[in-house]
Amino acid sequence: MRVLFIGDVVGGPGRRGLAATMPQLEERHRPDLVIVNGENSAGGIGITEKTAGALFEAGADVITSGNHVYRHRDAYEYLDRTDRVIRPANYPHANPGRGHTVVEADGMQVGVINLSGAVGLQVARLPFSEADALVERIDADCLIVDFHAEVTSEKVAMGWHLDGRVAAVFGTHTHVPTADARVLPGGTAFISDVGMTGSRESVLGVKREQALESLITQMPVRFETAEEDVWVMGAVVEVNAEGMADSIEQVMVPAP
Ligand SMILES: [Fe+2]
Ligand SMILES: [Fe+2]
Repeated sequence: MRVLFIGDVVGGPGRRGLAATMPQLEERHRPDLVIVNGENSAGGIGITEKTAGALFEAGADVITSGNHVYRHRDAYEYLDRTDRVIRPANYPHANPGRGHTVVEADGMQVGVINLSGAVGLQVARLPFSEADALVERIDADCLIVDFHAEVTSEKVAMGWHLDGRVAAVFGTHTHVPTADARVLPGGTAFISDVGMTGSRESVLGVKREQALESLITQMPVRFETAEEDVWVMGAVVEVNAEGMADSIEQVMVPAP
């Protein structure tokens, strides 16, 4: 079973870039399951039913998210209604949406879990204990984790924490891809961050002159999504019959 995981899709340029690139990714990697992080899909921050719909139309089967998931209030009811868009499981239980979902792919029941790091981000419970509880609770043939976290130490630690218990831990949130993709000794595919799907002529997806002005002047600046030189970033993992990973391959391609 092959999983294609796509990093944070930033705004309209990211959504359109993903849609334009998916045909070549499908042909090259033949994924059975496509998971897309959509936390930046609406105007660069947050997600709405409409932008989630665009990601599904592009080929996503499951959408994960992160710290920006509640930016758009009108999406809360949608997050409660859909079982295909998930938010970090270690947020307060009463918050809109759910933290995991189970879907079928290539004859396997695949559990997809979204977790948020606790370092530099707000959570209700630590991601490590939350992961333990979910691995115990979810009835599936294999588990895939989107670990939306700020620092590499916490991400690498989560890889080791879950090694041998889940098929893959994909890091998201920093929007910058790391060069450490590998299968850990216990059979868990791991990468600290898959990167983002958006403009590379930007600062993490934001127009670079606006990001620079903000950092240089220390004054409030309105951020807009950059449009030039859109790349699609992610990773492909091959999951075996035991529910563990045989391989992980990084994906970094310019949108046509
Ligand atoms: Fe993001
Ligand atoms: Fe984020």
